[in-house]
Amino acid sequence: MLLQRSDLPAYAAHLASRDGGSAAAVLKRLERELADGALCLLDVFVTLDPLDRRVTGAVRLVSVAERVAILTEWRGDEGSGTYEELFALFSEATARAIDRAIEEVITRIEDRAITPDYERALRCAGFRLTGRRIEYKTPVCRLPCAPPSRLTWRTMADAGDELVLNVLREASVETPDGVDVEAGPGAIGQLLGRAYTTLDPRTAQIGSLDGDPIAVVLVRVDRHSGWSTLPFMGIVPEGRGLGLGRQVHLRGLETIRALGGTLYHDGTDESNVAMVRLFERHDCVKHSRMGAWRWPA
Ligand SMILES: CC(C)(COP(=O)(O)OP(=O)(O)OC[C@H]1O[C@@H](n2cnc3c(N)ncnc32)[C@H](O)[C@@H]1OP(=O)(O)O)[C@@H](O)C(=O)NCCC(=O)NCCS
Repeated sequence: MLLQRSDLPAYAAHLASRDGGSAAAVLKRLERELADGALCLLDVFVTLDPLDRRVTGAVRLVSVAERVAILTEWRGDEGSGTYEELFALFSEATARAIDRAIEEVITRIEDRAITPDYERALRCAGFRLTGRRIEYKTPVCRLPCAPPSRLTWRTMADAGDELVLNVLREASVETPDGVDVEAGPGAIGQLLGRAYTTLDPRTAQIGSLDGDPIAVVLVRVDRHSGWSTLPFMGIVPEGRGLGLGRQVHLRGLETIRALGGTLYHDGTDESNVAMVRLFERHDCVKHSRMGAWRWPA
């Protein structure tokens, strides 16, 4: 069912019990997100214990591009998460996606979290398994530093968003990890989590080789928690396989460090051998394997 305003404290308590931390701090964060529009109650779906209105499990729909959203992994108490409960939540979430004109919902489920009921509920709600992903979580202090690079770097503020969009588009071909930038500069803001103009200019950078712009890296750092990721990094097809991927990845890691990131969380499709090699080379710690599911409208 949809999360009611009056059940927000119960939702905060549920999140705190899963992620650690105090329910009061989580409630404060949720209220801040509600106030600044980052959270909409219509995007949160919960199951409740009918006796005490305790939230026993939840999923949330989060936009990542104009017509693309992520459905968070189901996180429920022991004994909750029956097929009926999950099917009802996923059906509500996809109905909400249709209301919001979202064409694609992606959900990534860790191998250790998926159950036969979970899988059946996803399939019956219209989701299909589209790939497998490896994720890494590494303290930033354990990541290597960037040696001198053959690439020269400019921020998007200096290079212009048209150029960044062009390189993003080209670097997204022939890879399972490509991004859709047809929505224009707004697509970059979606990937970064906020409008670029409100962020440090180093969160979007273009790398050039002998004057040719061939690489791009986007950097996201949560100032409050230190959580960080590279929403996208890539090289145009002609520049791949020449050893430049290491330099692009190290540039991203160096920027995370410079922007105060403390935990680097990232991942790639299992079939992206070059990216998997980069994570391994750069001492990233494997955290989980997961199935990637997709719901098309
Ligand atoms: C992922 C990407 C950045 C890697 O850059 P690259 O310049 O092609 O990779 P490098 O030449 O630096 O090689 C990195 C490692 O992968 C290996 N590798 C590269 N291409 C490979 C391939 N096709 N098959 C197997 N291994 C490959 C290299 O041998 C190297 O391994 P090593 O460190 O053991 O020597 C690049 O392929 C790319 O832009 N892809 C499209 C965008 C993308 O998928 N981004 C990743 C997720 S956001």
